Amino acid sequence: MPDPLIAAAAIARARAHAPFSKFRVGAALEAEGGTIVMGSNVESASYGLTMCAERTAIFKGVSEGHTRFVKVAVVTDTDTPTPPCGACRQLLWEFAPDAVVLLANLKGDVIRYTMRELLPAAFDAGQLDRHS
Ligand code: THU
Repeated sequence: MPDPLIAAAAIARARAHAPFSKFRVGAALEAEGGTIVMGSNVESASYGLTMCAERTAIFKGVSEGHTRFVKVAVVTDTDTPTPPCGACRQLLWEFAPDAVVLLANLKGDVIRYTMRELLPAAFDAGQLDRHS
């Protein structure tokens, strides 16, 4: 029985819009309070405008009033699970610093990280308070 958050990320992956890379990514976030927010990558013909699955989910959740997430799942159809890109790690850090991150593939492999492991020595709002 897969983790329900991984199952949600797999559903999101199926909704990915990835006609250019064909690399479909699904993410699901569990907000404090239990709400699950899903996101997929959405690609643009102007390639640089593409949005990753993780950030799609973060922006959806935050814009709906969920600003703190406790668990993250990312699903791809790859031989080994896919780690989030650097940009997504930064945003995840800002809204899910204490989260457990489950990286999974469709074969059922799961790798577990914490956000702290994925982004040590992070930049965040704390640094902005320290300028002179
Ligand atoms: N992608 C994600 O959705 N999340 C990541 O963390 C890495 C990359 C997407 C962006 C693009 O649509 C495709 O994967 C190939 O880079």
